[in-house]
Amino acid sequence: MELCKFHTVAFVVILFCFPIAYGWGTDGHFIICRLAQPRLTKAAANAVSQLLPAYAQNDLGSVCSWADRVRFRYHWSAPLHFIDTPDNLCTYQYKRDCKDGDGIQDRCVAGAINNYTTQLLSYGKASSASQYNLTEALLFLSHFIGDIHQPLHVGFTSDRGANTIDIRWYNTKGVLHHVWDTNIIETAEKRFYDSDVEELIDALQKNITTVWSAQAKAWEACNKIACPDLYASEGIKAACDWAYKGVDENSVLEDDYFLSRRPVVNLRLAQGGVRLAATLNRIFG
Ligand SMILES: *[C@@H]1O[C@H](CO)[C@@H](O)[C@H](O)[C@H]1NC(C)=O
Ligand SMILES: *[C@@H]1O[C@H](CO)[C@@H](O)[C@H](O)[C@H]1NC(C)=O
Ligand SMILES: *[C@@H]1O[C@H](CO)[C@@H](O)[C@H](O)[C@H]1NC(C)=O
Ligand SMILES: [Zn+2]
Repeated sequence: MELCKFHTVAFVVILFCFPIAYGWGTDGHFIICRLAQPRLTKAAANAVSQLLPAYAQNDLGSVCSWADRVRFRYHWSAPLHFIDTPDNLCTYQYKRDCKDGDGIQDRCVAGAINNYTTQLLSYGKASSASQYNLTEALLFLSHFIGDIHQPLHVGFTSDRGANTIDIRWYNTKGVLHHVWDTNIIETAEKRFYDSDVEELIDALQKNITTVWSAQAKAWEACNKIACPDLYASEGIKAACDWAYKGVDENSVLEDDYFLSRRPVVNLRLAQGGVRLAATLNRIFG
């Protein structure tokens, strides 16, 4: 009985100590991986199922935020989640922009997508006891294809992707970056989907096969194995046209902003899911 009571308390504590979403919060990444997995070819689905850690129980969504959880343990991986582009230019160029704070080339989310794509291409090759851990490569790649679709993960340098722009989201103080990682998705879930992420996933899935079906074919197109530069260019454009637009230090963002930006977030989530699947299909095809 005492033990039982303790467990109840522990359970409640756990519930309140781990907020539902943070990062293209856990929900954003979860959604993208959940959209992707059913779109895998047989070969890709088999490879993913072989590479996933056992505790994931063949659910890519459950480990889609693994890269955020190891960000501090794998300190070197922190610059691989984003790209800083020159302030107010609203363009992206790999050579110019894909580097970390120390100027080391390739250390950005686009470089990381290329890196983990190359590593995964060695999967199943007879000669390769790959020097890399391909489970980690899969988890990094799945996460980074999500991140590169978050418009403010390809943002301006001096505000660190809008991390230094203070705003209010309705009644809550925050920063603009977090609005795009989490707040828009969470508010949409609460207002339109019964606070149930699965309902939002279903709605996106449905639109991918109906209103977006022709576009979705175009989203998949890539003349290489992975096409992160295309996604980054779209990202900084969306950041300028939608995320930064009309926002100043201490702006109060409410329904006007939420309702006009929600379709952009839905589109980026859908593109992220479709493109993650297409990339894995090309890798393992
Ligand atoms: C490539 O992957 C390896 C193994 O995880 C890592 O050590 C290296 O920093 C990565 N480089 C980039 C640019 O992603
Ligand atoms: C590969 O990485 C995963 C996740 O970090 C880890 O659990 C696993 O032990 C690693 N495998 C090997 C062979 O090192
Ligand atoms: C799905 O498409 C309909 C029609 O364009 C739109 O009203 C709705 O907001 C979309 N839902 C999502 C989750 O994208
Ligand atoms: Zn990330």
